[in-house]
Amino acid sequence: MSVNKEVKRVTTHTLQEMKLRGEKIAMLTAYDYSMAIILDDAGLDVLLVGDSASNVMAGHETTLPITLDQMIYHAQSVVRGASRAFVVVDLPFGSYQGNSKEALNSAIRIMKESGAHGVKLEGGVEITESVSRIITAGIPVMGHLGLTPQSIYKFGTYTVRAKEEAEAEKLRSDAMALQQAGCFGIVLEKIPALLAREVTENLHIPTIGIGAGTHCDGQVLVVNDMIGLTKGFKPRFLRQYLDLYEGIKGAAQSYISDVKARDFPSEKEQY
Ligand code: KIV
Repeated sequence: MSVNKEVKRVTTHTLQEMKLRGEKIAMLTAYDYSMAIILDDAGLDVLLVGDSASNVMAGHETTLPITLDQMIYHAQSVVRGASRAFVVVDLPFGSYQGNSKEALNSAIRIMKESGAHGVKLEGGVEITESVSRIITAGIPVMGHLGLTPQSIYKFGTYTVRAKEEAEAEKLRSDAMALQQAGCFGIVLEKIPALLAREVTENLHIPTIGIGAGTHCDGQVLVVNDMIGLTKGFKPRFLRQYLDLYEGIKGAAQSYISDVKARDFPSEKEQY
C-alpha cells in the first residue's frame, strides 16, 4: 500500500481560510495506520489522535491512564497513513499540567517522534503560559474547552457543560485567552449550541464542535462511535453512519461457521 505524497497538505493557514470563507472543517479521530489511510483518502481535513484512544483502543474507563509514549505510538501510525490531513495529537493527562517546561517537552517529543503537525491541550486561562511557550517553539496548538474529559473526576459526570452563566462566562474568557495565546483553533465539547455560536462568532480562529451544535466552524467525532464500533454508546450528539459492530460480528460468525464446516479454506484458497 503506498501513500500519495503529491497531495497538498492541510495547514493551520488552510483551516483559518476555511473559517473566513465559511467552509466547514471536517475532523475525526484516528489511532492507527489503516484507519488513517481510509479517512485521509475520504477527504478529512483534520485527523485527531485523541486521548480517547485510552477508551476505545485500550479499554480504559477514562482518558487519564494513557501515557505520552502510547500517544506517540498512535500518532506515528496515523502520520504514516495521512498524506493530506493535518494531524493533531492530544497531550495526555499528566504530560503538561505540571508546568510550562514540562508541557513544552511533551509537545516537542510528540512532534519530533511522530511527525505530527500540532498538539491539543485541555483547559483555559490556567494553561495559557504553556500554550504560549509551545507556540513560541514553533508548534501549532489547538485548545479544548467545555467538557474536558481529563477533568472528569472534577466534573463527576459527562453531562453538558456551561449551562449556568458563571461557567459560560468563564468559557467565553478562556476562549479569548487561548486565541490571544496563539491557538490555531479550539475544540468545544458538549456545550449549549447558542454559547458555541457566540464564541464562534467572537473568535477569528476556527472552533470545532462535538456536541456543540451547528454553528461551530467544524465538527469532530470519535471515529469508533461514528462507524458504530462502540456498542451501546448513543449520546444525542452522535450521528452513527455505520453499524460496524454488527457487521464485524456477522463476518466473524460466518468465518467460524465456515471453519467448523470445513468450508474454509476451499481448494482455490490453498496452495
Ligand atoms: O480525545 C478525543 O477524542 C477528543 C475529542 C472528543 C475532541 O478530544
